[in-house]
Amino acid sequence: MKETQSGSGSGETPVVRMDKVNKHYGALHVLQDIELEVTRGEVVVVLGPSGSGKSTLCRTINRLETIDDGDIYIDGTRLPAEGKPLAQLRADVGMVFQSFNLFAHKSILENVTLGPIKVKGMKKAEADKLAMKLLTRVGVANQKDKLPAQLSGGQQQRVAIARALAMKPKVMLFDEPTSALDPEMIQEVLDTMVELAEEGMTMIVVTHEMGFARKAAHRVVFMSDGAIVEEAKPEDFFTNPQSDRAKDFLGKLITN
Ligand SMILES: Nc1ncnc2c1ncn2[C@@H]1O[C@H](COP(=O)(O)OP(=O)(O)OP(=O)(O)O)[C@@H](O)[C@H]1O
Ligand SMILES: [Mg+2]
Repeated sequence: MKETQSGSGSGETPVVRMDKVNKHYGALHVLQDIELEVTRGEVVVVLGPSGSGKSTLCRTINRLETIDDGDIYIDGTRLPAEGKPLAQLRADVGMVFQSFNLFAHKSILENVTLGPIKVKGMKKAEADKLAMKLLTRVGVANQKDKLPAQLSGGQQQRVAIARALAMKPKVMLFDEPTSALDPEMIQEVLDTMVELAEEGMTMIVVTHEMGFARKAAHRVVFMSDGAIVEEAKPEDFFTNPQSDRAKDFLGKLITN
């Protein structure tokens, strides 16, 4: 089995490459021959109806879920099955979930420094400096000594983004990062994500925020029943969807 692989087309190695990835949950074929390449600096928004496999797709990319067959490469390196190589490669893949998943009994600062200290062996002083830089960047530096529960949902989600960035990931995965937030907090998180995108971060984003998709995405990937059925630039996808399933999906968004 090849451990490294150069990308097709441009000749540049994709940051994420999924090659004929299949996964089942019992009888359910939840990922079907998934082929996806994400290049450096690219922002891919994954859309699709509930249950179409968007979260499962994200979770296979940092191996929170195993796959049955196919291959996943991060920056040319095949995802290792387990152990230290997996932990190292996982550090390359930042993930932000719908629920913020911060460590409840650690301060905001500690939430951000923990990964660099434990996984990367960074000295505390250096980790503190990095964390303060990132917390400043997402606009919550003044909250550093509080516990997560003392922050608003939007602030907590921005801390979760800072925590993921502290590992200096090659790609950031976002799985519906704003869907647990009150409406007034959605925009501040989306703004942080747009900034990240503008700074050139490679991102895979599952979201129902079509404004974000139009503004920040280079490409929309539409999933239905475990398969990628359509891929297009956002302006093309939203104005001229090709498949009936995508038309149906967009039609429901407009009427709801
Ligand atoms: N651990 C699991 N065991 C069995 N089935 C699962 C498991 N996780 C997800 N599924 C099923 O796999 C399918 C895809 O789920 P997934 O969470 O990936 O969908 P999704 O596109 O993210 O949906 P949503 O928009 O509701 O978040 C669903 O039918 C779901 O019920
Ligand atoms: Mg989901």
